[in-house]
Amino acid sequence: MFDVQSIRNDFPILSQKVNNHDLIYFDNGATTQKPQVVIDTIVDAYTKTNSNIHRGIHTLSQTSTNLYEQARRTVQTFIHAPSDKEIIFTKGVTESLNLVAQTFSEAFLKEGDEIIVSAMEHHSNLVPWQMVCERKKATLKFIPFNHDGVLDIEAYKKLFTTKTKFVSVVHVSNTLGTVNPIKLLIDIAHEHNVPIMIDGAQSIQHCPIDVQALGCDFFAFSGHKIYAPTGTGVLWGKEEWLEKLPPYQGGGDMIKTVSLEKTIYNELPFKFEAGTTNYVGAHALGTALRYLMNIGIENIQKHEAELMAYATQKLREIPQVTIIGNAEEKAGAISFLVKGAHCADVGMILDKQGIAIRTGTHCTEPIMTYYGIPGTARMSFALYNTKEEIDYFAKILSKIALMFE
Ligand code: ALA
Repeated sequence: MFDVQSIRNDFPILSQKVNNHDLIYFDNGATTQKPQVVIDTIVDAYTKTNSNIHRGIHTLSQTSTNLYEQARRTVQTFIHAPSDKEIIFTKGVTESLNLVAQTFSEAFLKEGDEIIVSAMEHHSNLVPWQMVCERKKATLKFIPFNHDGVLDIEAYKKLFTTKTKFVSVVHVSNTLGTVNPIKLLIDIAHEHNVPIMIDGAQSIQHCPIDVQALGCDFFAFSGHKIYAPTGTGVLWGKEEWLEKLPPYQGGGDMIKTVSLEKTIYNELPFKFEAGTTNYVGAHALGTALRYLMNIGIENIQKHEAELMAYATQKLREIPQVTIIGNAEEKAGAISFLVKGAHCADVGMILDKQGIAIRTGTHCTEPIMTYYGIPGTARMSFALYNTKEEIDYFAKILSKIALMFE
């Protein structure tokens, strides 16, 4: 049974008042709140077990190492990866995406080659590719989307040439909420023998992910968007690809042996984990994923789909509101405009009522350029949100809409 009230009790931050109103937290696309078990995991680790991992023979170091490696296996289970060697801990999805962009291009990208991304990428999956293409004199190509925020698959097919070396695409748009048909995108890339990475920053918390069923080559996500601490993230990659890529950074833990002249790199996954990682954060990410598996990610998906449908309906009932992004399949986020109002003003007035949303370009400036707007207001959901919160939000938003008319 999915009991949202009991779930809310797991998140201490939700029971406070903000600006003298009960907090309504609709900024989950930016970051999610943390359940008490995750907070306890961090406190416990620093209270009882803290010690650097993979480096000490003493008891605390062994315990800390075991907790970190257990978290790796939890991630493996969560995304159904074939091996825990394929799970690389990073500081977030941005680092995961940069890791692949930089190492792949160093090994495989030449002048004149081509990379494909979509036109709805978060800057994190656009700028790293712009950087490597500039360095290597390669060309970046874009899958266009239509006014509803739906990718043009026929145009995607036509982007491939013999020079296409890599595809990297967002699963769920943080701005439009569109759920892209990634299985189809993956299959098409593979028909051309091109590897493909999926940016799962806004999907991992909303729907089940099975990297083997998807068949992608890389999948990246952040911990803080899935109820885990900031500064945690994951890159999953097929072992054959991770073996072929050179290391991303040099330092401790990514080495096997070092002489003054030469270094033999460590095996997977440590080859990509230079320096002291956020091992407490990774351990807490494991706790967050176990917490979600106990609730059932399918139950969360169903609850959030109801919230999305309900909120969409409520927004459509306000004549001055326009929703940006009307794909048939959406998850997590709804962007909207209020006639006559700047989105920042909408956000500030909602904040006075205790309602937190995000406003602006959402790190997707090309999407704003496409629609010819300076930004949007965006509400984004998590498992602890309720229809009652949406009702209150819609009541306040209607008043705001009348104010600006
Ligand atoms: N990428 C995050 C968002 O969409 C920060 O808000």
